[in-house]
Amino acid sequence: MSILFESTRLKNMTLSNRFVRSATYDGLSDPTGRVTDRQISLIDDLAAGGVGLIVTAITYVHPSGQVSSFMNSIADDACIPGLQKLARTAHQRGARIAVQLYHGGREARFVKTRGQLPAGPSVITCDPFYRWNYREMTEEEIQVVVHAFGQAARRAREAGFDAVQIHGAHGYLFSQFLSPFTNQREDKWGGSLENRLRLHTEVYQAIRRETGADYPVLIKLGVEDGFTGGLTIAEGIQAALMLADAGYDALEISSGVRGEKYEGTEYKTKILKPSREGYFRKWARDIKQKIGVPVIAVGGLKSVAMMEEMVRRGEADFVSLCRPLISEPDLIRSWNADPGKKPRCLYCNQCLEAVHRGIPLYCVAFSKKEQAASESSAAKRRSKSGGNS
Ligand SMILES: Cc1cc2nc3c(=O)[nH]c(=O)nc-3n(C[C@H](O)[C@H](O)[C@H](O)COP(=O)(O)O)c2cc1C
Repeated sequence: MSILFESTRLKNMTLSNRFVRSATYDGLSDPTGRVTDRQISLIDDLAAGGVGLIVTAITYVHPSGQVSSFMNSIADDACIPGLQKLARTAHQRGARIAVQLYHGGREARFVKTRGQLPAGPSVITCDPFYRWNYREMTEEEIQVVVHAFGQAARRAREAGFDAVQIHGAHGYLFSQFLSPFTNQREDKWGGSLENRLRLHTEVYQAIRRETGADYPVLIKLGVEDGFTGGLTIAEGIQAALMLADAGYDALEISSGVRGEKYEGTEYKTKILKPSREGYFRKWARDIKQKIGVPVIAVGGLKSVAMMEEMVRRGEADFVSLCRPLISEPDLIRSWNADPGKKPRCLYCNQCLEAVHRGIPLYCVAFSKKEQAASESSAAKRRSKSGGNS
């Protein structure tokens, strides 16, 4: 049997296999951030489809971190009953589930609807990749956010989630603090790498205080920014080592503050030949070689043979997928039956563009194809029946 399908452990969690559904924003919450039936059905599909560990969508821990209207909240206790249903749904199918704890920092543009400006570590006046207004966080605001992460993790545990994952990548709050480009503070939160990681370590401690020693606390870490002059991979690797030392139980290795076009982001396109697959593989491998805690690889993973090789060679412990599972939530089960199956995902990012326009998550490319196919078969039926069907 493939090593990918062997049952394995992560901290105190037993996972049925090594496949992770990487966190995926779905635009499906209700307007107050509560879990909806469509989200329960999505988690049910993924769990039934064989994913070992499902990471939810970004879920804001404090209203100051909200980035869009239809995203989930874990910012107050009233969210717990809905989240409980989500966790129970995964468990009923034998999957494990982690909630992704999120704060958007300067990217939290939704707060403007409440008449406020989003805030990040520093205001960068000349930023070619970011053009919206925001302000600098005060010391007090940082402490409020640290506390909010602790409370959010307590709620996650109460709701029955098996783990939490901090969103420490893709240009959101933790990436903004880690990047020397977006963090130009001169207090204890900026400057040295240790200072730029203070948010990550204080949040970790706040979570531990609330959830106890045995609860799995994961982080998705952006280890290089998508442009020259930002976080370098050398510092990103160093940051990964420091967070493993700080106590994080697993690191999912991705990219940091976004640069230009899709190529400067976490969701690269044109994954058309093996050399484009697994585009963050090298980073995961370099980090895995240096740390004792599990590493989760993500980014353009689409062939079982490559993922198997990565795990066998000790380049990663887990493999994480997002876009292929949007298109085929039962992909893992299909791979178990036929490891040679090619995922149908085109990595075209039309799903992403749709959620950015406020449309709930779906595979745009294939629903267009399916629509076209059903229209053409309807047209054939019409012409055969003389236009009466
Ligand atoms: C529609 C969409 C939503 C996403 N939402 C999240 C999210 O909520 N949190 C996160 O960490 N990454 C998010 N990502 C990034 C993915 O988790 C993943 O890191 C990236 O797509 C690369 O993996 P893939 O090649 O398997 O898609 C999202 C990506 C897409 C396409």
